[in-house]
Amino acid sequence: MPKIEVRKLSKVFGPSAKKVLNELEKNFDKQDVLAETKHAIGVYNASFDVEEGEVFVIIGLSGSGKSTLIRCLNRLNKPTGGSIIVDGDDIVKYDRKQLRDFRRHKTAMVFQNFALLSHKNVLDNVAFGLKIKGVSKEESYAKAQNMLSMVGLEGYEESSVNELSGGMKQRVGLARALANDPEILLMDEAFSALDPIVRRDMQFELIKLQKKLKKTIVFITHDINEAFKLGDRVAIMKDARIVQIGTPEEILANPCDDYVEKFTVDIDKTKVLPVRSIMSVPGCLTKLKDGPKVALQEMRANAVSSAYVVDDQLHLKGIVTLNNARQAAEEKKTISDVMQTDIVQVDQETMISDLVPLAAQSPYPIAVKDEQGKLCGIVTRVAILSHL
Ligand SMILES: Nc1ncnc2c1ncn2[C@@H]1O[C@H](COP(=O)(O)OP(=O)(O)OP(=O)(O)O)[C@@H](O)[C@H]1O
Ligand SMILES: [Mg+2]
Repeated sequence: MPKIEVRKLSKVFGPSAKKVLNELEKNFDKQDVLAETKHAIGVYNASFDVEEGEVFVIIGLSGSGKSTLIRCLNRLNKPTGGSIIVDGDDIVKYDRKQLRDFRRHKTAMVFQNFALLSHKNVLDNVAFGLKIKGVSKEESYAKAQNMLSMVGLEGYEESSVNELSGGMKQRVGLARALANDPEILLMDEAFSALDPIVRRDMQFELIKLQKKLKKTIVFITHDINEAFKLGDRVAIMKDARIVQIGTPEEILANPCDDYVEKFTVDIDKTKVLPVRSIMSVPGCLTKLKDGPKVALQEMRANAVSSAYVVDDQLHLKGIVTLNNARQAAEEKKTISDVMQTDIVQVDQETMISDLVPLAAQSPYPIAVKDEQGKLCGIVTRVAILSHL
C-alpha cells in the first residue's frame, strides 16, 4: 500500500469554490476562469501515489500549484475535491482533533523561509515542537541535541538563530522537522533561498539523512537539476495540473510535451542517467574453467577479438584477447595464465558522468556489474563520449 494516495485532488480559491470546480470544463484555461469567476484554480484533478520511503518531487513554474498541492497534504489547505489517503485514512475527512494529531505525529514541514522562532536559540527552536506535544523538557532537549548533531550543528545549541547563515538556518529547520520523528516530511522549496554551493551541500545532506532515516518525503522545487538529483520520482505541474509523473530517466527519455521538454533541456543528462541506460551486451563471454580453445572458438563464432572471462556465477575475472588465447593454446597454458585482469568494473547505477575519468584510463570497455556482482554489460568509450 502506498504511504500517500492522492485521488482527483482539487483546490479552488474563492467563496464558491465547490460550485466553480463542478462547473469547470475539462479543458478550462486558468486565466479565463479567474477573469470570469474571480476564483483561482490552485490544483486540478491531481492523482498520484507516494510510496513509503520515497522521495517524491514536484516541480513546475511559478504559480503552477506546487505549494497549494503540498499544503493540501497536511491540510494547511482544505481541498475542494478529491481524497488524500494516508496509511489508509482519508485526511480530507479529518475533524479538528484528528487533524491536530495527524500534524503532530505523522508529518512535518520545512519551509523556504525557514520559519524559525527568532527570539529563541538553536536548541530551543528544535525542541519547541516536542515540548508542545507534551514531551518532557529533558527528553525534548535530548532529542533536539541528537537531531542537531545529525544535521551537523553540534556546538551551535546556544546560538541565536539570527546569527546563523542561510544554510545553517535551514539545517535548524530540518532538525526541527525531524525531531518529531515524522513519517512524512514535506519540503516546500526548502533549499531555494540558499546560494548554489550551500544548496548543493544541503542536497547532499538530505540524501545522506534519507539513506539513514528512510522517511516519505514530498519535496518541491523549481530547479530541475535538484528535482532529478533528489527525486525517486518527479511530478511536473503546469497550470494547476500534473502533466507527467515518472522517474528522472523516464521523463528524460519520454517528455510528454513541449513544456516538460523545456524543463529537461537544462539537465546534465550524464549526471542523471545511470550506466545501465547506455551499456551494451558483452560481445563474447568465456568461462574461466574452459580452455583457450573454447575461448578461441567463441571469439571466432562471434567475430570479435576479445572475450570476457567469467566464473560460474558470472563474476568477471578478466579479458582474454585472440592473441592471448592463441598463445595459451600453443604453450598449453590456461585462460587465467594469460588473461588481462586490470578491467575497470562499475556498478550499474553509477552515473555516466562518473565514468569519464575511468574510461580515459581503461584500455578496454568498462565492465558493468549488477547487484549480485554479475557481469551484466559493458560500456565503450564511444558510448560514453556520445552522451556527453
Ligand atoms: N490563498 C490563496 N488565495 C487565492 N489564490 C491562491 C492562494 N494561494 C495560491 N493561489 C493561487 O493558486 C495558484 C497556484 O499557486 P501556488 O502558490 O500553489 O504556486 P507555486 O507553484 O507554489 O508557485 P511558486 O513557484 O511561485 O511558489 C496561483 O494562481 C495562485 O495565485
Ligand atoms: Mg510555491
